[in-house]
Amino acid sequence: MEKRGRFITLEGIEGCGKTTQHRMLGEYLRAQGIPCLITKQPGGTAIGQKIRKILLDPGHTRMTPVCEALLYLADRAQHHAEVIQPQLAQGIWVVSDRYQDSTVAYQGAARGIGRDDLNNIFRLGTGGLQPDLTILLDLDPEVGLQRARQRNVDEDLVHTEGRFEDEDMAFHYRVRESFLKIAEADPDRFTIIDAGREPDLVAADIRHHVDEWVAALV
Ligand code: TYD
Repeated sequence: MEKRGRFITLEGIEGCGKTTQHRMLGEYLRAQGIPCLITKQPGGTAIGQKIRKILLDPGHTRMTPVCEALLYLADRAQHHAEVIQPQLAQGIWVVSDRYQDSTVAYQGAARGIGRDDLNNIFRLGTGGLQPDLTILLDLDPEVGLQRARQRNVDEDLVHTEGRFEDEDMAFHYRVRESFLKIAEADPDRFTIIDAGREPDLVAADIRHHVDEWVAALV
C-alpha cells in the first residue's frame, strides 16, 4: 500500500456551503477507513489563526492587495510546514477548506495581482504542492453572499470576519468566474459541483465523485 496520504481541497465563493461539506466529507472518508485530517485556510495553525484575524477584520479597510496576498501565502506556508506536509508524509489524508486556488481567484483575479507573482511565493512556501483532487462548489454569488451575510449575523461574526462579505457583487462575480476558469483548465484535478441545492444532495454528489476517484486510485 502506498504510504503517502492524499490531499483534497474544497473551493468556492462565500456562502457556497464549503464548511459543512468539508466536515461531512471528512466523516465519510473516516467511515471508509481512510485516516484523514480536516483543516482550513486561513487559520489551520495557531499562527494562522492570528493571521486569519488580521485578514478578516472588517476594520482593516486600508489593507493593500499585496499585504493581503502575502498574509494568505504566509498562512499557507506555515500550514504546509506544520500540518499538511507532516500529515501526508505519515500516510494521513488531508482535506483542506481552501488552498492556493482561492489566492489565485481572490487576490489574483478579483484584486488584480499577477498570477505568476502569487505562484512564485506559493512555491516558496509549499514547494508547489498541488492537491490530488479539488472539489469546486459552484454557486451564484447573489445566493452565496446572502447566505454568508446571514451566517455572519447568526454567528455574531459581522465585526470580526466580515471583510470579504463587505465587497461589492462585481468582486464576487470575478471570484466565481476565476474559479470556473481554473477548474476548466485543469479537469484532471477538479470536480465542479452545483452547490445551489440542498446540502444533502450536494453531499451525495461529492461522495459519488470521491468514490469514483478513490476507486480509480487502486
Ligand atoms: P473562509 O474561512 O473559507 O470563509 P467562508 O466560509 O466565508 O468562505 O475564508 C475566509 C475568507 O478568506 C473568504 O472570504 C475567502 C478569503 N480567502 C482569500 O481571499 N484568499 C485565500 O487565499 C484564502 C485561503 C481565503
